[in-house]
Amino acid sequence: MISTRFRHICTEIPNERDKDIIETITLLESKQANKELPVVWDRADGFQVFDRWGNCWIDMTSSIFVANTGHNSENNRKHVQSTLEKGLMHAYCYPTVERAEFLKKLLSMTPSYLEKASLASAGTEASERALKLARLYNAQTTPEKNVIIGGSGNYHGKTMGALMSATTPEVRNWVGYQDPNMLQMPFPYPWIMESINLSGSQLFFNHIEELEQDGLDLKKICAFIIEPYQGWGAVFYPEDYIRSMFNWCRENDVLFIADEIQSGFGRTGELFAYQHYKVEPDLVVCGKGISGGMPLSAVLGASNIIELDSSLTSTHGGHPIACAGALGNLIDYERYNLTHESNKKGTYLKKRLDALKSKFPTLISRIEGRGMVWGIYFKDAKGNLDVTFVDNMVDKLLQKGIFSIRTGRGVIKLGPPLITPIDALNEAITVHEEVIEELLYERNI
Ligand SMILES: Cc1ncc(COP(=O)(O)O)c(C=O)c1O
Repeated sequence: MISTRFRHICTEIPNERDKDIIETITLLESKQANKELPVVWDRADGFQVFDRWGNCWIDMTSSIFVANTGHNSENNRKHVQSTLEKGLMHAYCYPTVERAEFLKKLLSMTPSYLEKASLASAGTEASERALKLARLYNAQTTPEKNVIIGGSGNYHGKTMGALMSATTPEVRNWVGYQDPNMLQMPFPYPWIMESINLSGSQLFFNHIEELEQDGLDLKKICAFIIEPYQGWGAVFYPEDYIRSMFNWCRENDVLFIADEIQSGFGRTGELFAYQHYKVEPDLVVCGKGISGGMPLSAVLGASNIIELDSSLTSTHGGHPIACAGALGNLIDYERYNLTHESNKKGTYLKKRLDALKSKFPTLISRIEGRGMVWGIYFKDAKGNLDVTFVDNMVDKLLQKGIFSIRTGRGVIKLGPPLITPIDALNEAITVHEEVIEELLYERNI
């Protein structure tokens, strides 16, 4: 039994009484849906998740980077409710007040050179749109300029273009072929940078040279697409790597696309994570935290690019309830000053996590991240990422009232709502420390 200001665990976890729901989902839906932690969510509020039996967790996931403003934030909920209550369940691409008001708000709070948005529902759809716009950009004048360069191991979604532009060959294998005009450059992981004597900028030019050596005519590149940090481990690019990429794009009339689906809306301590690199992407792909809960995604860019595809429609893109919720979400984002909050709490988390690494130097190999996204890397005796240890940690954390992300990669990833108070973050990290000690003890007996 656990009862603190922020957590309440009063049953066994997993709970027998949740079993039928989990079993029904396992029976009736693809098993993937049941790989998640065995808790049946009943409601979520702020930085906490509740089940039907009185248990309450500190949510370190933001429901996978969606609830940046906190679950059920006041204006998010109110705007959804009022749209429902007046009886507007759907309106295809037809004009609605909700759509207009949301677009006005979104484009007023994002950099002014981003003049227009193209709305969709899932993040992966927005990625596809950005890729299409990048190819259309040259279609009339230089159709052979249609090669898109992504980052190996980056992630833009599960649909074909998103898969082909990034990820790894293993993840794309099932497709059966690779679009020859979608290529990947290696990701300059910090551990690689530490092992070579090159600046990020030099490494970028080496990577460009490698593309050329592999037979690519560089004049055929139409766009680079980046994920500002790799999600699984909160790993960022070296700043000068991205600056060189961006400058190269400018010099060669190549579009620069940032996928801010996970990293946007304050997650890293800036509205958009690309701002850390001091660049201005031609297209910014948004999802997750843009809406705070409703399925809504968007590509933002200058009018001349966004307008390139006159065939764009989407049955649910710009759904009135999603737009209403997203408007409320953005109002709350500004009201709670969440860019600032994320920065402030990031400084606090870094201090705590660095101390944790110092306390367990043979177990924790790295701390990566910034703002309200962090990765704690655990290594085994051979120096490899310790997936089993981390999976056991996630289970134990759950039993102690901390709901965390199961990465399956040997990394504990922290992504709490940006409104989470420092006291709750403090408690969550203390529980992580407690769990590490318990697992080490159990390993040694
Ligand atoms: C960086 C990034 N891009 C794209 C996606 C795909 O978004 P969705 O799952 O909404 O299709 C995700 C989702 O995790 C993401 O983190």
